[in-house]
Amino acid sequence: MEDWQNGGFGLYIHWPFCKAKCPYCDFNSHVSNTINEADWQTAYLSEIDRISTLTQGRLLNSVFFGGGTPSLMSPELIAAILERIRSRWTLANNCEITLEANPTSVEAGRFRGYRDAGVNRLSMGIQSLRENDLKALGRLHTVKDARKAFDIARDSFDRISFDLIYARQQQTLDDWKIELKEALDMAVDHLSLYQLTIEDGTAFGDRYSRGKLRGLPTEDTATDMYFATQEICDAAGMSAYEVSNHAQKGSESRHNEIYWRYGDYAGIGPGAHGRLTIDGQRHATDTPLSPALWLEKVRKTGSGEGSCTSLPADEQLTEFLLMGLRLSEGIDLERASALQGHPFIIQNKYLSEDGLIATENGRLLVTPKGRPLLNAILRELIP
Ligand SMILES: C[S@@+](CC[C@H](N)C(=O)[O-])C[C@H]1O[C@@H](n2cnc3c(N)ncnc32)[C@H](O)[C@@H]1O
Ligand code: SF4
Repeated sequence: MEDWQNGGFGLYIHWPFCKAKCPYCDFNSHVSNTINEADWQTAYLSEIDRISTLTQGRLLNSVFFGGGTPSLMSPELIAAILERIRSRWTLANNCEITLEANPTSVEAGRFRGYRDAGVNRLSMGIQSLRENDLKALGRLHTVKDARKAFDIARDSFDRISFDLIYARQQQTLDDWKIELKEALDMAVDHLSLYQLTIEDGTAFGDRYSRGKLRGLPTEDTATDMYFATQEICDAAGMSAYEVSNHAQKGSESRHNEIYWRYGDYAGIGPGAHGRLTIDGQRHATDTPLSPALWLEKVRKTGSGEGSCTSLPADEQLTEFLLMGLRLSEGIDLERASALQGHPFIIQNKYLSEDGLIATENGRLLVTPKGRPLLNAILRELIP
């Protein structure tokens, strides 16, 4: 058995366009009014063909349309991509097919089109249930739009998740608690709750470095918000199964679990990363960030791949720990030992004595107490 089989196999398809660039976002997203869907379809299908020849005979556990804003893709384009995928791989019975959607200008017909094409899970970027905060986050939708889009989505999909960002400007702990409870009243079975990160190279990053991004909560308040989030979600039966992801038991995102369980995934589209085991050796792949360059590369060379680097065992172990310890289930110590080539031993005894990590049934996990210190714990554990 190859190591990736412990995590499964998925496809990530990147759509790099948005209606507007949100000031906090450093995803590979671009605003363009000259998008020729036919060109994109040709390129995606060509990449699916190329990758399917590298991964023949595999069972496909998941497909994820991420962005950017994939809900700007026409249902016909999604249908053509999924049809080609179905003709190239055997899909697992419970294959999860997720599409990220933005609540701006959602029409019911479009969502039905995605469902009819085969999408069975939607992930919606709601970000906030407070009008002023949506404006501050540069969002083009109102709270009413978001709630309406969510209701429309519910008519077409059983599985829907949505994203919220907390630790926003001017946000208080008490208001976040109320907002989160409102969100849980709406939620179906999955929620992604991200603490606002100020990324270099974004509009927020620039404003922050000039001292102009005012009213951000202190680190202590942000930590209090994190713990309140865990408490409120636990009480609602939506515990965290990963640092920022909450779900009812059995409704975890299988696609993201492929990343965190260190499975294999192919990245298709500009800026999409992949991890692919070919002839027994795991590789890291990437693609050009620029949409135009990626399209041209696929058209001219028949491959969108920028680089394909074989990963030495020690790097695989590091990645396995970095990903797996984000999950509340932690990692399988035998897998860590197999990747290392000798038994994986935890050198730092204080971590478990202080209750920051635990070992249970052959697994190593970071406890709820340790979770806010994850990065420091990882520095201790990575050989
Ligand atoms: C690719 S976007 C989701 C879909 C869609 N583009 C949208 O915005 O509606 C992924 C998610 O990452 C989160 N995100 C992006 N930048 C972030 C940041 N700087 N801090 C915290 N969360 C962030 C947002 O919650 C966002 O919904
Ligand atoms: S948060 Fe979503 S909509 Fe906003 S720029 Fe990023 S990818 Fe686009």
